[in-house]
Amino acid sequence: MAGGVTPRALCRLEDIPDGQARGFGALFAIRQGRTVFVYVNSCPHIGVSLDVIPGRFLNHQRSLIVCALHNAWFRIEDGFCTHGPCIGDSLEAVAAEVDAEGTVWVPEDAGW
Ligand code: FES
Repeated sequence: MAGGVTPRALCRLEDIPDGQARGFGALFAIRQGRTVFVYVNSCPHIGVSLDVIPGRFLNHQRSLIVCALHNAWFRIEDGFCTHGPCIGDSLEAVAAEVDAEGTVWVPEDAGW
């Protein structure tokens, strides 16, 4: 992990089915192949957890992150809100890396 940041293992790649999302406490992660996008689980609208239905972060097509409380949509690749009351805001992204052994790493203090 760059910049002398102490890393923490979030999970194994196979803990997240490809194309799906999973919550990890204050964080959630979306897997697309060997790429994992990680965000703080807090909607920029009023700060609640995005998964109003626990563990459900994506739309049916699994093409967008959704906050079901007031129907905000966020791009998976950068967390930018394209629809809803917080349009133009972004989710708080967490730098994540997947190593050759398939461990997903995030900064030690991410989400805490
Ligand atoms: S709290 Fe997420 S859209 Fe309102």
